[in-house]
Amino acid sequence: MRDFTRSAEIQARLHDLVPGGAHTYARGVDQYPESMAPVLVRGKGARVWDADGNEFVEYGMGLRSVTLGHGYEPVLRAAAEAAADGMSFSRPTELELLAAQDFLDLVPGADMVKFAKNGSDATTAAVRLARAVTGRTTVAVCDQPFFSVDDWFIGTTEMSGGIPAVDTVTFPYNDLDALATILASGTVAAVFLEAATALAEPLSGYLEGVRALCDRHATLLVFDEMITGFRWSAGGAQAVYGVTPDLSCWGKAMGNGFPLSALAGKREYMELGGLRTDRDRVFLLSTTHGPETAALAAFRAVVRAYRTEDPIARMEEAGRALADGVNAVAAAHGIADHLQVRGRPSCLIFRTLDAEGLPSQAFRTLFLQELLEHGVLGQSFVTSAAHDADAVADTVSACAEAARVYRRAIERGRVDGLLRGRPVAPALRRTAAPRRIEERTLP
Ligand SMILES: Cc1ncc(COP(=O)(O)O)c(C=O)c1O
Repeated sequence: MRDFTRSAEIQARLHDLVPGGAHTYARGVDQYPESMAPVLVRGKGARVWDADGNEFVEYGMGLRSVTLGHGYEPVLRAAAEAAADGMSFSRPTELELLAAQDFLDLVPGADMVKFAKNGSDATTAAVRLARAVTGRTTVAVCDQPFFSVDDWFIGTTEMSGGIPAVDTVTFPYNDLDALATILASGTVAAVFLEAATALAEPLSGYLEGVRALCDRHATLLVFDEMITGFRWSAGGAQAVYGVTPDLSCWGKAMGNGFPLSALAGKREYMELGGLRTDRDRVFLLSTTHGPETAALAAFRAVVRAYRTEDPIARMEEAGRALADGVNAVAAAHGIADHLQVRGRPSCLIFRTLDAEGLPSQAFRTLFLQELLEHGVLGQSFVTSAAHDADAVADTVSACAEAARVYRRAIERGRVDGLLRGRPVAPALRRTAAPRRIEERTLP
């Protein structure tokens, strides 16, 4: 069995010093099998190493922020050179103009862009701008996993402690009638959605219909391109599906891990945050670190890579090979109805169903446990351009080992005796239970 002793020690100290023991809930220990949550020290390409010296093929890679691979040299070089000339000044740099030009070349539906650090900075700025433009307050969000760390969205989740009532309503994806009913109230400032997700593509005419409904009701249409940007295409979902939103919000892979996000959109709206308007000004986005040079230079190097290397083709190719390989392994073990790899090739997920064919956290945890044991770290099978044939082959081999154990659990109808520890639990939930951990006495 792999040794996770040192990781466990560091993790325990992290819990003493950092609430939740991680800086992102999705990175939390409760998202991993107990006693098997590696604390990482290094990454290169598609591989990472933990504090005990274990090597893993990694998936997801920084919550989907690293699409070119860890330690991708051209991005590192560009960022280091920029940083050496100073990172933050009292006035804009020319780099801000060049980065804005690069961005707007990629996203022709947008006329202006403003950079920040977190995706939530951008989505929350879009909410404020839409409210200022329309004079309305309600935000309509699609029933998709995540849009922001801020109150207007977290207030709609299970983890809404500390948040006063929010004016946010939810609508189902691919259902124009439901959205039409919501918009008919005349109170909606913005419609927020991811144009597509790993498992859900827009039905024919859906996005065009959303666009038309927003136009009819004078509501701003906002695409969240956090995941689709640089993964569906460099120009995001709007380039793939040919529907132009009023505003779009970007982040994640823009800097191949360097922190950068962006709010982009039509000039008539974005100018409300500028100096070329007679209307009341909107505090659009204004952050100390927004124009920091290393991340903007990293972004420009990412754009160059997307122009010259076709990383999306590489991540899709890896994804297709992986899905075929793992689904074949599941079929060979007679568990194809229970263990399935699905989704867009650049954004694969695995479905872990129990003996009755129902989604199961316990079976998911068993699969994660066996993947970790055999050198694969991932909450999904989201690939990067660095996932080469070796990484895919190693993962398929790990899945073959995992499938043997999974099959035993399916035959028994339960994971008892196979799963070591408690199952994982949803990242956003009301209580620490069922993965509460005991306080310990500080030395
Ligand atoms: C679709 C989507 N929108 C917005 C966000 C928020 O981005 P950030 O964590 O950079 O604030 C996320 C983060 O996971 C996301 O997946």
